[in-house]
Amino acid sequence: ASIAWQNENEEEGNLISSLPKERGWSFPYVYLFEQFWCPSPLIRERNIFQKHFQAKQSDVLVASFPKSGTTWLKALTFAIVNHKNFSKENHPLLTSNPHQLVPPLYTFRGNIHDQILHLSNMPEPRLFGTHIPFPSLPRSIIESNCRIIYVCRNPFDTFISAWAFYNKIKVESLRTLTKEEAFEMFCNGVIEFGPWWSHMLGYWNESVARPNTVLFLKYEDLKEDVNSQVKKVAEFLGCAFTEEEESDGVIESIAKLCSFEEMKDLEVNKSGTINFEIKRFENNLFFRKGETGDWVNHFSPSMVEKLSKIIEEKFSGSGLSF
Ligand code: A3P
Repeated sequence: ASIAWQNENEEEGNLISSLPKERGWSFPYVYLFEQFWCPSPLIRERNIFQKHFQAKQSDVLVASFPKSGTTWLKALTFAIVNHKNFSKENHPLLTSNPHQLVPPLYTFRGNIHDQILHLSNMPEPRLFGTHIPFPSLPRSIIESNCRIIYVCRNPFDTFISAWAFYNKIKVESLRTLTKEEAFEMFCNGVIEFGPWWSHMLGYWNESVARPNTVLFLKYEDLKEDVNSQVKKVAEFLGCAFTEEEESDGVIESIAKLCSFEEMKDLEVNKSGTINFEIKRFENNLFFRKGETGDWVNHFSPSMVEKLSKIIEEKFSGSGLSF
């Protein structure tokens, strides 16, 4: 087995060194792997998952481009799926960060085989998160027909949120990116898991082709009317609320439990930490402003013009708009 491992590692080393690379936002390098900018530790994890991870039809995958509302959607999905299991008073979301309850498929750290074993022992339905673009998901996920919920956010707010976040979590040796540098990279699609337009379009097109398997949500719609989105997710996951539950206010209490205001003030999210991707960092970094339209405070007119043009170019005719 160790020779097989060595060969695997060597092949990987060769593969990675042959890929185009750029400086990442939080990783020293991202590599153009299967047409997206992938942090190098993930290439290895992704390949091992491709071979060994067994998805189940009952799995639920929360997918997103980073900084699009992943934390919120993970909280909502967990609360919806478990709405019969926990009372308001002792809900796990009061004491755990959503990324602990809905762990990422890929951890970028530790022994990946242990991680797969850990995932295989999770109670069903298993809830996972991922930032991997649709075409690069493990085959087993696509073949299992398990359900995928994607959250998309307008690129203006996504950019500002990402710029603020990555500069805080980046590896220490990396220089802080100025807004102008980051914007240039963003416009070229160079960012962890980017280009963002193909990420969004990959899931969008799949949600159009297979609406019973992929549900496409928008951060802005969640902000505008979270109750109707909660109902939609529950129906999609086959755990719709009964009339009695609806009149008891179950939907409203899920929305409140997962709201930005409630979550950011929980002790676990104020002072707790999480071992996430490259390092341990504070849960409070997942909660910044939680608004739509904060970008207006940061964009110059020429930035607005440039990004609007890219959006127009990339999304026209797709049916997806912002
Ligand atoms: P801002 O940086 O604009 O405030 P992700 O969870 O994908 O990392 O996205 C993070 C963004 O979602 C941040 O946006 C964060 O503040 C916001 N967010 C986190 N929890 C939220 C919640 N419960 N409701 C609304 N927005 C939330």
